[in-house]
Amino acid sequence: MSANNMAAANCTAIKKPNNQADATAPASIPVIDYEGSGYRQDFWEGQGREYEDAVERIALKRLLPPHGKRIAEIGAGFGRLADLYLGYDQIVLFDYSRTMLADAVRKWGHDPRFVFVAGNLYQMPLAPGTLDTLVMVRVMHHLADVPAALAQLQPLLHQRSTAVLEYANKRNLKAVLRWLTRQQRWSPFDPQPLEFVSMNFDFHPGWMAAKMKDAGLRVDERLGASHFRLPALKNNLPARLLARLDSRLFRIGGKFPLAPSIFVRTAAPAAAERPQREARPGEAGPAHLFRCPSCTAQPLAAVGPTHLQCPSCARQYRQSDRIWDFKLPV
Ligand SMILES: C[S@@+](CC[C@H](N)C(=O)[O-])C[C@H]1O[C@@H](n2cnc3c(N)ncnc32)[C@H](O)[C@@H]1O
Repeated sequence: MSANNMAAANCTAIKKPNNQADATAPASIPVIDYEGSGYRQDFWEGQGREYEDAVERIALKRLLPPHGKRIAEIGAGFGRLADLYLGYDQIVLFDYSRTMLADAVRKWGHDPRFVFVAGNLYQMPLAPGTLDTLVMVRVMHHLADVPAALAQLQPLLHQRSTAVLEYANKRNLKAVLRWLTRQQRWSPFDPQPLEFVSMNFDFHPGWMAAKMKDAGLRVDERLGASHFRLPALKNNLPARLLARLDSRLFRIGGKFPLAPSIFVRTAAPAAAERPQREARPGEAGPAHLFRCPSCTAQPLAAVGPTHLQCPSCARQYRQSDRIWDFKLPV
């Protein structure tokens, strides 16, 4: 499989050619721009990815605590996986793309437990110690600076939190075979991240484990998933059956990661002992949930039910159509 095909299989089969870095992204780290993309229709719906979706759901069900006070999905997109979080009192869907979140609002906006937040994970507007569970799927794949991202995510946890993180594995079986037979130049054993298409990265499991450790994340479990991403299998076996078979390889695939997708369950042993704030379901003004993404001051002051202000730098942030917007200060 060519690198470009792998890109299509793994992530960015979106019609709009928007996998360019967003030059306006703060913190000078490039961010992929899904604004206005057809990710749901062009990548998932009717695109033959029922198997991948089913596998990811099994992996998440295995790794995520099913209940809790507050869960956040970072890079939640249109909320594809949000039904897995319904055991939580509060569900935060966080994404850089307002249009993806607007899609999520259409599906989940009726449920007061959902909080929709537009922001850049490199300039995190969620306050430290606020999450019982954090989940990030198919996002690491787009991160140009993983250590900077993990440095923003780890402080969101407390000592009893769980973070489930997924990444694309550059040392997958297909890449190894292609390299051994000289059909591919780059070595899957080279620890450095591989940007095979602009803003699409695959990672070596050893490199990723080291970065997680550096960020203060302890890996408690690792699963290898999506071993059967092969048209011959996907076209001839029901997706759910294939996914169930794949799940039998999760454990061994975690020990010897040759699958294209790796899920890890992590904890933050050095984090604050308790959640800084307990989730209050349906709370009208979640000022306590946020910090200023510009100067990191917290808590923000509620100026009205849909309007927050930073007490330090005076920047203002608003909620409209259910989405709290921390991308650009008002
Ligand atoms: C491939 S989609 C995955 C969406 C969802 N997790 C899923 O599996 O269906 C990647 C998502 O990550 C978001 N994203 C990428 N970089 C981000 C950043 N720096 N901050 C916040 N979201 C980001 C994109 O906007 C996009 O919605």
